[in-house]
Amino acid sequence: MSGPSWHRELEGRWLPFTLYTLAAVVIGGLVLLIPPFFLQGTIDPIPGFRPYSALEQEGRDLYIREGCNVCHSQQVRPFRTETDRYGRYSVAGEGIYDRPFLWGSRRTGPDLHRVGGKYPDSWHWLHLLDPRSFEPDSNMPSFAFLAEQPLDLSLTRRRLDVLRSLGHPYTPSEVENAPEDARNAMRTIVESLRADGIELSESQSRSEALALIAYLQSLGRGAGLLEATAHQGSSHGD
Ligand code: HEC
Repeated sequence: MSGPSWHRELEGRWLPFTLYTLAAVVIGGLVLLIPPFFLQGTIDPIPGFRPYSALEQEGRDLYIREGCNVCHSQQVRPFRTETDRYGRYSVAGEGIYDRPFLWGSRRTGPDLHRVGGKYPDSWHWLHLLDPRSFEPDSNMPSFAFLAEQPLDLSLTRRRLDVLRSLGHPYTPSEVENAPEDARNAMRTIVESLRADGIELSESQSRSEALALIAYLQSLGRGAGLLEATAHQGSSHGD
């Protein structure tokens, strides 16, 4: 072999080499980017999966405001060690109403994606007030102030309306009645606490802690639906 190969030669000429490289990257990029725009969706929908209720949505915003997601992930990975501890692994369809998503990767505390229904409302109330009464070594801060701070419902309607404009399937009446729905849902939680022997004061009955509890109890609501789909022999079942 005499002389350098054609590729060596090309590498030595910086301008054509840069242009050819650029063309290759652009063509490759377009091939990957364009087709998804013509797909109806890239995520398997979960039949019956509903968006957050007004109160749950408020609770979700508080969850973000208080930085709960800094210590808690919401993503059960498909490994035996995870599913034995937390339950069914998470799938993409469960995140379609999460804007922004809160999957997280850091777990100072346990994953919360399957926490809904794991404990009664009263457990969450007491745990938020004083995590160390359950787990003496817990480094979760006390969120007792949330039990006194009144929940602000002045933007609830706007919140749902914005989400609706982004495609969340709220009906116009759900948006219109959002604050009233939230107040009703709060009364239900107050009742469930009373049934467990926790009597709330007037201000506690309107507190942010109730929205947070509603949100926590809504987490993992996709899991039951996924189980049902799997039992019906869907092609997506495992
Ligand atoms: C500094 C880290 C940290 C922050 C911030 C934090 N947590 Fe925790 N959380 C923990 C730890 C550690 C545990 C496990 C011990 C315990 O139960 O207290 C825990 C446990 C929990 C549990 C029980 C989970 C289970 O399956 O038993 C819930 C529910 C929970 N946290 C909710 C919240 C909420 C809601 C917030 C925000 C208002 C929050 N956490 C903020 C660290 C944190």
